[in-house]
Amino acid sequence: MDEGPAGGRSSAAAPGLAIRPYRPGDSGQARRIFAAGMLELVPAAFRRASRSPANLGLLLAGSGAAYALTASPALAGLSGLALLALVYLSCREAYAGYVRESLREDLADIEGRYLREPGGGFWVALEGVGGRLAGTVGALPDPGDPTACQLVRLSVDRRYRRHGLGARLTQTVLDFARARGYRRCSLQTSNVQEPALRLYQSLGFRLVLSSRPPIGGLLIHLSKIRLCTLEMRL
Ligand SMILES: CC(C)(COP(=O)(O)OP(=O)(O)OC[C@H]1O[C@@H](n2cnc3c(N)ncnc32)[C@H](O)[C@@H]1OP(=O)(O)O)[C@@H](O)C(=O)NCCC(=O)NCCS
Repeated sequence: MDEGPAGGRSSAAAPGLAIRPYRPGDSGQARRIFAAGMLELVPAAFRRASRSPANLGLLLAGSGAAYALTASPALAGLSGLALLALVYLSCREAYAGYVRESLREDLADIEGRYLREPGGGFWVALEGVGGRLAGTVGALPDPGDPTACQLVRLSVDRRYRRHGLGARLTQTVLDFARARGYRRCSLQTSNVQEPALRLYQSLGFRLVLSSRPPIGGLLIHLSKIRLCTLEMRL
């Protein structure tokens, strides 16, 4: 769970935030908000992974083996720390790799990828007219199903969380999808993103699949991250 400063329900009045379609000048801020939203998940992923029974078992087995071989408590401790460092790297790489790939691919050309794509769209939330960007969301046709769209790149700047903006951005995609005649909206998130999972489920999405990340090998396996696919019939 996101327990940072934005984690609790704010009692402050919702700031004046408007949602509008993306414009080319939004690119820099949109990329930053997306990257920050993903990279902030690393500590939560690490906390979860370092407490997983499989990784705790590995840690005990590794430290025990190091002690059995060297009779040195210091080396046994070091081997435990080395495993924790690998778990951290694994969590970091899971999200940093995803951010790198997204910034290099669709977010490198939001106009071309989302706005010129038939059936796609991208929106930003702004504080006041011409103000700072507070959030982003995109929609793309599902490549495997012409009757479905995918909700992607939902991210809200930490300063604007818990004011209903994530829900409004999601609703923007759902309204767009219905207007375009899509019958289904799907999305992918991860088991670490509890605020996002709660948000989507509160709006009517249901979990249809939990799977291991398709790439990344042993290192990613240590992160214990599960991809969660959710969908909603429209
Ligand atoms: C997930 C995210 C977009 C939510 O944005 P937000 O503007 O704070 O969300 P909202 O204020 O609209 O919250 C809507 C509902 O989501 C759930 N929710 C949101 N944040 C939550 C939190 N920190 N803890 C528990 N539930 C939370 C609640 O059910 C909430 O309804 P409520 O406030 O009436 O209880 C935001 O936390 C974020 O950008 N996270 C990092 C990036 C990310 O995970 N993006 C999703 C990509 S799949």
